[in-house]
Amino acid sequence: MLKGKTIILGVTGSIAAYKTVDIASQLTQAGAKVDVIMTKAATEFVTPLTFRAITGRPVVTEIFASGSEFNVEHVSLAEAAKVIVIAPATANIIAKLAAGIADDMLCCTVLASKAPVIIAPAMDVNMYQNPITQDNLTKLKARNFITVGPASGRLASGKEGLGRLADTIDIIGTIQQVLGKNGDLADKHIVVTAGGTQEPIDPIRCITNRSSGKMGYALAEAARDRGAKVTLITAPTSLTKPVGMEIVNVCTAQETYQAVRDLVPQADALIMAAAVADYRPLSVARDKIKKEGNRLTLELEHTADILGSIKGEFIRVGFAAESSNLVENAKQKLHQKELDLIVANDISSFGADNNQVTIIDRESKIDSLPLLPKREVADRILDKVVALLTERSRK
Ligand SMILES: Cc1cc2nc3c(=O)[nH]c(=O)nc-3n(C[C@H](O)[C@H](O)[C@H](O)COP(=O)(O)O)c2cc1C
Repeated sequence: MLKGKTIILGVTGSIAAYKTVDIASQLTQAGAKVDVIMTKAATEFVTPLTFRAITGRPVVTEIFASGSEFNVEHVSLAEAAKVIVIAPATANIIAKLAAGIADDMLCCTVLASKAPVIIAPAMDVNMYQNPITQDNLTKLKARNFITVGPASGRLASGKEGLGRLADTIDIIGTIQQVLGKNGDLADKHIVVTAGGTQEPIDPIRCITNRSSGKMGYALAEAARDRGAKVTLITAPTSLTKPVGMEIVNVCTAQETYQAVRDLVPQADALIMAAAVADYRPLSVARDKIKKEGNRLTLELEHTADILGSIKGEFIRVGFAAESSNLVENAKQKLHQKELDLIVANDISSFGADNNQVTIIDRESKIDSLPLLPKREVADRILDKVVALLTERSRK
């Protein structure tokens, strides 16, 4: 997704400029060519040398620099860029862009480019909420600038409020979403479930499982980065919620069932990566259960069978986590629940960053993948979803 892509990273004079070093580093590590343009004020906060060392590429600071390595730099940079990201974006740059002012290299490049522009504002809460700044942002959004953040929290001024630079993960997520906008899932709506459900026993205890949610989140992010509209139905996890998608928080199997039932009628595909409890306590104690006696018996009842009961025109992909007879058990589940695909994995992948899966389709075609990062597994699963959607659209 980011590999080989030219990204212009505009850095302006905010105290948050140091955080952009990490953004530049992560983009470079992912294989992007990162061309940094710094305003004069930005160089007061971080040196161009830092970005040059991180990206391995020249950093542009001056509009009238002598000995320039580029020919009419702002034009050549603007043409090469697949996306321009201004992070942090000061109130000043936002005002200048809204007014079409071109008195520095960053403004000139934005004006000379046809690439999408992402701005990540960072400033004091009063500066951000000032109607002048808000009007300028509204103008830019009307001109298809994409904004990410700001986040809320402690500001450099010591105040609390809106104005913090969005987290690196959100800025990079937005870049990926923008770059993948016209991907092979454009105009498709994919619903993904993730995480391990929690079934309450009493007000503080629950039955859950060791699902980390990583596979489901990787699927949701991969679908987003291929242009899909994504709804992520997530049981509790410790993962950061991805940007660029609708998030529906659920806790129990029943809540997951209801969310899926409400959301899938408009979807093109449902991918059930959540580890949904098969059983829940028959009754939930109103008060905390006291430690009395040597034994405690909990009576459990079956939860709703989501994949078995929610059917429709959409592609249905299930997961089978097994500790034995992986392929046979997965095949049985695929046919029982009339799924389009089933992804079988050994339970040892729970919580891990990599996964070794076997994908089985309705014709019992078996595709055993090697051990891969979950994001790569997600893309391989989505390749098959895309093929099924294409096949279906031809019928
Ligand atoms: C210590 C310090 C921190 C600043 N932080 C911010 C900031 O977070 N956001 C902002 O909009 N301006 C901030 N400013 C003001 C900008 O640096 C100033 O408006 C400058 O002209 C911006 O220039 P530029 O947009 O060309 O980078 C700060 C100024 C100082 C001295």
